[in-house]
Amino acid sequence: MPDTIQEEDTTIKVPDSQDLTRGAEVFYNPEMKFNRDISCLVLAEDFKSKIDKRDYYSVCDSMTASGVRAIRYFKELQKIEKEHKKQIFCIYLNDIKEEALGHAKENLKLNKLDNQTGKKIFLSNGKAESLFSVNKYDFVDIDPFGSSVYYLDSFFGNCMHNCLLATTYTDTAPLCGTYPKTCFIRYFAKPAHMDNMQEIGLRILIAKTNIIAAMHEKTYHPLVSFSRRHYFRFFGRVKKSSKGKIKEHLNNIGYMLYCNKCMERKFVDLDLFNNKDNKCSCGEVYDYAGPLWTGNLHDTGFCKKISSSAKDEKMKEFIEILMEENKINGICYSLHELAKASKKDILRTEKAIEIIKKEGFSASHCHYSGLFIKTDMLLNKKEYSKISK
Ligand SMILES: C[S@@+](CC[C@H](N)C(=O)[O-])C[C@H]1O[C@@H](n2cnc3c(N)ncnc32)[C@H](O)[C@@H]1O
Ligand SMILES: [Zn+2]
Repeated sequence: MPDTIQEEDTTIKVPDSQDLTRGAEVFYNPEMKFNRDISCLVLAEDFKSKIDKRDYYSVCDSMTASGVRAIRYFKELQKIEKEHKKQIFCIYLNDIKEEALGHAKENLKLNKLDNQTGKKIFLSNGKAESLFSVNKYDFVDIDPFGSSVYYLDSFFGNCMHNCLLATTYTDTAPLCGTYPKTCFIRYFAKPAHMDNMQEIGLRILIAKTNIIAAMHEKTYHPLVSFSRRHYFRFFGRVKKSSKGKIKEHLNNIGYMLYCNKCMERKFVDLDLFNNKDNKCSCGEVYDYAGPLWTGNLHDTGFCKKISSSAKDEKMKEFIEILMEENKINGICYSLHELAKASKKDILRTEKAIEIIKKEGFSASHCHYSGLFIKTDMLLNKKEYSKISK
């Protein structure tokens, strides 16, 4: 490993190799570059929408580690300030580990930003949850090893109206059903270890985020949400809301009923035990996952804006898929698993989408995998056998 790494226009000094991995703890994780790339787009979009209306904008990188994210954020926002001939933002870098702060300082220097300390950059060494309970920010990034859930109560307890929250979760095993009890204890939800387990995990997290927000009379509105390799990441707008608005918003929380025998699945509302259709069309009793978010995972207007700012073609394509997914009020299926269950050939994704659309339903690609489709058609073994003839 070289001792400096270049990520876009940011240079990062990586500590000696023995510091790089302590158990699962990676100090600078190149795998998370995509996470930082999309985060820069989201932050830039929010900043652009506010710069002409405001005289102050604050960003909190609450778990900064090497400082790479905060430095990239700084450079991104500085470009926008230059275009608008206005200087309004400040970035707060925090980490519970003093040692991390030392590395972040070194990296600020390496990127010639050390002269900004005390002006536009502020460093602190403490618990993120303590910061959230006393300060308010326009954009808060929570990026721990593991789950962000532990920080949400202090965040929602004191955050400002219309701020943006970005969270990462790397506890994919509980959320994807490998450790269902852990998922239940952490999120009070039942996961499912099945083909669309990432979709279920992501929806469990967004429901949980909204439940904690509601305890503090707020609502959380997803802007961009995804699951990738070993993590979940999502961005949303936080609003102070009336009791009526909260109740209405929480109508987007329910369960997914699914059949272990024929792969049929559907979303139902929270009144799970009053649901008269507790049997699948094949006669089997449905299993369930949730509570989970059954509403949209993205905001199409916001995605359009970040897609037009993205320079990288792969990133544009990724955001295009999120927008495509968002048009459909449906659930994801693995074509591979449908084909296996029905003992039929695997339809190409494009072909499956085309056939389902011809049948009068909606269908799209999914960001979870190229071999997945999202559809509002009640797909199961039988229906797949019909469409794959
Ligand atoms: C995954 S790393 C952050 C990576 C960084 N955001 C990036 O993009 O490269 C998690 C960091 O969170 C810090 N951390 C863990 N718990 C914390 C807490 N309660 N408050 C603040 N920092 C914490 C750790 O010391 C570690 O440096
Ligand atoms: Zn069935």
